[in-house]
Amino acid sequence: MAEPDLSAAAVPPIDLADVQGNILRGYTKSMVRHLIAQVTDASAARAWIGATAGPDRSLAPAITDAAHWGENPPDVCFNVGLTFAGLQALGLPDSATRSFPEAFREGMAARASKIGDWGDSAPAHWKPWFQDGDAVHLVLTLHANTASLLDRHEQALMSGMAGKSLSIRGRNEGAKFNGDEVHFGYRDNISQPRFAGISPPGKVDHQPSAPLGTVLLGYPTALEQLTWSLPEPTVLGFNGAFNAFRVLEQNVAAFEEFLSRAAERLLDSHLADELLPVGSEQDRASRPQRLAAMREVVAAKLVGRWRTGTPLALSPRDPLPGETVSDTNYDFVDDAGGLKCPLGAHTRRVNPRGARIVQRMANHTRRLVRRGMPYGPRFDPTAPLSDAGVERGLLGNFICADLSAQFEAVQYDWINLGLQDPRITGSNDPLMGANEQDASWFDVATSKGTIRLRGLPRFIRTRGGAYTFLPSISALRWIGRLGGQ
Ligand code: HEM
Repeated sequence: MAEPDLSAAAVPPIDLADVQGNILRGYTKSMVRHLIAQVTDASAARAWIGATAGPDRSLAPAITDAAHWGENPPDVCFNVGLTFAGLQALGLPDSATRSFPEAFREGMAARASKIGDWGDSAPAHWKPWFQDGDAVHLVLTLHANTASLLDRHEQALMSGMAGKSLSIRGRNEGAKFNGDEVHFGYRDNISQPRFAGISPPGKVDHQPSAPLGTVLLGYPTALEQLTWSLPEPTVLGFNGAFNAFRVLEQNVAAFEEFLSRAAERLLDSHLADELLPVGSEQDRASRPQRLAAMREVVAAKLVGRWRTGTPLALSPRDPLPGETVSDTNYDFVDDAGGLKCPLGAHTRRVNPRGARIVQRMANHTRRLVRRGMPYGPRFDPTAPLSDAGVERGLLGNFICADLSAQFEAVQYDWINLGLQDPRITGSNDPLMGANEQDASWFDVATSKGTIRLRGLPRFIRTRGGAYTFLPSISALRWIGRLGGQ
């Protein structure tokens, strides 16, 4: 296939059949399995990778691309991400591997100090199959609605050429347990970048639509006059994307305990009536009812959305459950003081929208496509003892065109340093920052004053991950055609 000509003034319209699926539009499957694989035979592995994008299904299952499914969605979606160590293990020429950006070349573990992976979250404590980053070469991802479909597909996959050229080092499996609910009880997957002409029309979004260069290489980005340089040759880089795959363990018991502690404190403060939802103020409800209502207020303040999904920016005093309000059509421009949505709330930190921030250029330029799935059983607050030793969390994919300027900038500058607004600088994201109980703080502002909540522990621990490159379909074929090294 001829290499695309990017020198043309206008980049050609996107060929969705050349882009891997789950980047521009999310799958709606309820289960995921990530196979963490190591290359054992470079030439056979290259041939297999090429075959996943070729016509002969007896050689390898097909990679799911981004073309519309029409009436016939596949039972199983299959995608592949390659790490830098993987590109090297596959024997790609140095001229190609050297042309990838530094963050990707270094890999996730080496960037630990830039992304808050220290203490318990340090790579030395990751799951065994992630600990030797040099041996993590491919992340093969299967999405389906049943475990038996996943099993069958994995078997088919490994019984052919893949079985002879790759070894599976570990598996990370996730499954939805209540629609788009994630552990901690929030509805997730509401706000995503919308790509003009590609994202389903319908929902109104106050934010500018995202240019394709937000996630795909070779297209204009939201940064004026900036297009990320393509890894070489062009056929390898064009239509590819980068992914920060993260295994994030969530400590739900600690989170629920914090909600209770903070709710008690707020309830006893002079601002209680300013914060409680209408109808649960001091004189209208019993203490346990007010406490329960205040716990939800705290949960909402930490994230910037009620656990039902309703954004605080649209409904600061009422969780209003339901589809119509769990939308993303709002801005923070009229909430400069954080009276509706706290300045340090998770969603406001990671996407300040049009709010005044220190790095003006960054307002809409660090957007990430998020494709995640919970893992582990839902927490049962009535049986905390039987929960001992149970692990649960999020298998998160943070997809972007530049890991350093998008994922790492959000994860570090905004989540962990609070550099976007001097009023939160020095505090961490309350939900997922690298908090230390002694030093952490989170401000809840009302028109009658601000209360500083303290003592937030670290609720989320990194258990593994990898920076991967999600090559285009043409790039997979190109890899398949490479000669022996
Ligand atoms: C276990 C870890 C995490 C949990 C439980 C979590 C939870 C949530 C929830 C409940 C929302 C609101 C739903 C929505 O707007 O779609 C959200 C939004 C978001 N999160 Fe997280 N998150 C986690 C980790 C992260 C990380 C590591 C990042 C980035 C590095 C991130 C970036 C975002 C972004 C960009 C949004 C959308 C904000 C917007 O556009 O308004 N999250 N998250």
